[in-house]
Amino acid sequence: MVRTTVLVLNGPNLGRLGRRQPEIYGTTTYADLVERCRTWGDGLGLDIETRQTNHEGELVDWLNAAADDRVPVVLNAAAWTHYSYAVYDACAQLEATLVEVHLSDPEARPEVWRHTSLVTPHAATVVKGKGIDGYREALEFVAARVAG
Ligand code: DQA
Repeated sequence: MVRTTVLVLNGPNLGRLGRRQPEIYGTTTYADLVERCRTWGDGLGLDIETRQTNHEGELVDWLNAAADDRVPVVLNAAAWTHYSYAVYDACAQLEATLVEVHLSDPEARPEVWRHTSLVTPHAATVVKGKGIDGYREALEFVAARVAG
């Protein structure tokens, strides 16, 4: 059986997971996240490629390639979620499933600028406030979609 590849794309500052404000984002490291996504994907019959960048254009390039290849995407665009029209436009071009994920619940946080998401209009679903487990839920959603 051909396994579906899913991109798990992470935006700025997420490479410091585990060290970055653990009271908000938890103590799981980015390396652990990569490993867990791989394991969760295995269990769901998905090949997972997890990436992180602090460079907006790099994320746009990855999203453009995902659009060309019709690859499902799980996206935590981090702060770009809230203000990047380039990410908005790139998400608009995706044809396969897009799931928006956040470790915290941005809407429940005090900074008003976190309450807007430019990814949500294009996402099939949003998983937020569930920490690292949110990525598992996002992959389960993609797997269910792929299964039809
Ligand atoms: C985040 C929430 C964003 O508001 C923030 O800028 C991040 C991480 C999350 O996963 O909770 O960098 O996307």
